[in-house]
Amino acid sequence: MSFDLVLFGGTGDLAWRKLMPALFQAFRHGSLPTGGRIIGVGRDDLSDTQYRQLIRSRFDAVELAKRPSADEFDRFAALLFFLRMDLTRPQDYARLAERLRERQADTVVMYLATAPSLFTGVCEQLGAAGLNTPATRLVLEKPLGHDLASNRAINEAVRSVLNENQIFRIDHYLGKPSVQNLFALRFGNALFEPLWRRETIANIQITIAEDLGVEKRGAFYDSTGALRDMVQNHALQLLCALAMEPPINAHADAIRDEKLKVLRSLKRWSVESLGQHAIRGQYTAGRVDGQAVPGYRDEPGVPPDSHTETFVALRAEIANWRWAGVPFYIRTGKRLAARDAHIVVNFRQAPHAIFDVPMDAANKLVINLQPRDGLELHLLSQAQDQRHAARGATPMLAPVHLNLDFTQRFGAERVGAYERLLLDVIDGRLNLFVRSDEQEEAWRWVEPLLRHWQQDRGGPRPYAAGTWGPSASSAMIARDGFCWSEEC
Ligand code: BG6
Repeated sequence: MSFDLVLFGGTGDLAWRKLMPALFQAFRHGSLPTGGRIIGVGRDDLSDTQYRQLIRSRFDAVELAKRPSADEFDRFAALLFFLRMDLTRPQDYARLAERLRERQADTVVMYLATAPSLFTGVCEQLGAAGLNTPATRLVLEKPLGHDLASNRAINEAVRSVLNENQIFRIDHYLGKPSVQNLFALRFGNALFEPLWRRETIANIQITIAEDLGVEKRGAFYDSTGALRDMVQNHALQLLCALAMEPPINAHADAIRDEKLKVLRSLKRWSVESLGQHAIRGQYTAGRVDGQAVPGYRDEPGVPPDSHTETFVALRAEIANWRWAGVPFYIRTGKRLAARDAHIVVNFRQAPHAIFDVPMDAANKLVINLQPRDGLELHLLSQAQDQRHAARGATPMLAPVHLNLDFTQRFGAERVGAYERLLLDVIDGRLNLFVRSDEQEEAWRWVEPLLRHWQQDRGGPRPYAAGTWGPSASSAMIARDGFCWSEEC
């Protein structure tokens, strides 16, 4: 199958950090279909050779084992081309059309790795230049808008030139092997399904912690914040994967229909819950990994009086028969104590105690997402150290856990998120992409919170870099009688 992949933003940050390395990996693994072209598009005046040299330099920083040899890179580079375009000029789209007509590939992928403010204009121009053929697939990177109205405007512009099944909205979390495993855990095994409900589960916690700060993206991040950057998309997609009903099959729409129902069932915000169930924070100077790091307001591009949140902790509820009353806690932030994304499913305690159990001990399933992925099943067993137990006393139990480490089991060299998603686009598989109605529903849920925070002059609560966020986050969960995984 032949393909052309047109990379708008071909010299930009995303292409540099994620897309080119992912395409190279796919090439190295032999999974990139042969007979393809990757056409980088940008404003610079570069020849194909200069573009190849530029991309070559990308790999200089890569660790030795992953760095391509000269010969290997040359074979990959033969797929790379560059086209200079001003995305506002119709003539430039005509030149792109000409370039694509040279070979009439079976699939033409238009990947918009550009500023989202350009999405609508680019789609209109693609339509006007006749570049919206049945062979076209359009990939949109997040953020898709900054609220419900802007998200809808983009979706409408895109749908006016292409059908929904030609649109691939990326949420790279869905491409992570650990997140696909979550679907496999729930819908490939019969073991947990009978337990996966309010009668047995006390609460579920989703943590996506990053130890990095905003790096060089201060200006972008400051107009975005953690709620838009991580919760509206990645965290809510994880929540959907955890809470959805089993789909009738593994087809894209069957999965997306079930995710949509979860988003529609999210309990709406009330005045009370806005105040109590949503905590925002902003990091101040601190130490991460023993290194002193500056506070958010001292990062380049960030205004000194910024009220943008770099941390969010929320308590969500899903109003349906399976989940009514079960809190789902979501927490994410920059400059936290560790890079650690995981989910904890806390089961209820045994209904009647005939043993002496450690305080608050109950079963839990920990789903580790990154940096290592795996499953830990926490159980209680007979305590081995019974020296102090008096004869006839109640037997004591102690916590133990089963540990399945996927990184150890399958190796660290697995197909990365972007590699997987790029191959899916080329092959036309939509399962791991987000449909417009899901995205709109997620915006609908976060929007009252966005508005509330805009009006609330209190601003985010400070937390020192290298900690787990403001103490109000622990207080929020403690009000329900629970604690975050690292606290209990
Ligand atoms: C991106 C956010 O979507 O996800 C970034 O814009 C964040 O701010 C990144 O750092 C986290 O992705 P990962 O794969 O490193 O967990």
